[in-house]
Amino acid sequence: LVPLIIDTDPGADDVIALLLALSARDRLDVKALTTVAGNVQLRYTSRNARMVREWANRPDVPVYAGSSRPMLRTPIYAAEVHGAEGVTGVKIFEPKQPLAKGQAVQYLIETLLAAKPQSITIVTLGPQTNLAMALIENPEIKRGIKEIIMMGGAHFNGGNITPAAEFNVFADPHAADVVFKSGLPLTVIPLDVTHKMLTSPERIERLRKIGNQAGKIAADILDAYVEHDIKQYGLPGGPVHDATTIGYLLKPEMFKGRMVNVEVDTREGPTFGETVVDYYNATKRPENARWVTEGDTQGFFDLLTTQLAKLP
Ligand code: BDR
Ligand code: CA
Repeated sequence: LVPLIIDTDPGADDVIALLLALSARDRLDVKALTTVAGNVQLRYTSRNARMVREWANRPDVPVYAGSSRPMLRTPIYAAEVHGAEGVTGVKIFEPKQPLAKGQAVQYLIETLLAAKPQSITIVTLGPQTNLAMALIENPEIKRGIKEIIMMGGAHFNGGNITPAAEFNVFADPHAADVVFKSGLPLTVIPLDVTHKMLTSPERIERLRKIGNQAGKIAADILDAYVEHDIKQYGLPGGPVHDATTIGYLLKPEMFKGRMVNVEVDTREGPTFGETVVDYYNATKRPENARWVTEGDTQGFFDLLTTQLAKLP
């Protein structure tokens, strides 16, 4: 079992990612979900994470609320993509089980300090504020981390929120900068790969046809969510960004990438929040991340369908 903490800002695609992760009980030991402001405000991302926990029937997984705003920059949100309260396409409800007591950054620090050396995998699906704050507060936590897998960044075809920047990095570039400079083993799932691994009406229909609640929720969310990207980016289907990250965790052999140096542009201006990827090693700066560019799309949607069938 892979001990795992998922930091998230649900977020339509975050919901799919969380369902996928929570379905894999035989592979992933999800220690906690930690939430952050991102796609929508923290009170919504935290409530949405609790909704997913209830859909997945996983009362054993605590949800800790974390940072309510980015480290330095003015907060930005993506409600036009995900819906005013962060999950489009489904009925919002107030989950019964409350948030865990304590703050997510504090939880990360305490858990990682107490963990066996290099034991915990951290997945970030939103702005990296919580992880960066924890790393700043106590760099000793690095000892407990096995690796970080993040959804974020863009190189070959530019960004989705500005011409240069991808949303998660743009929403807190200073936090991403801390993470890229941490020296920790880091795998990045950028738009370069998520914009190739697209839904199709058939792929969504297969999820619905599972016949359980999780399949219906995933299909309803995707039906509503992919509309935006299909229209705005002219893609033939919708990317399921964050879920791709869990796909990578469960079946890394479906993906291809290379070790590169990445710097985050933290200067305000047209390239604010850009991930500057030295793909051809022009600078000879040391590698600090695995940059994923290819994935097996059908393999991923097959995995998603098989896994969601295991949920209620
Ligand atoms: C990322 O931004 C968010 O809107 C999505 O949830 C995903 O994490 C894609 O750029
Ligand atoms: Ca997200």
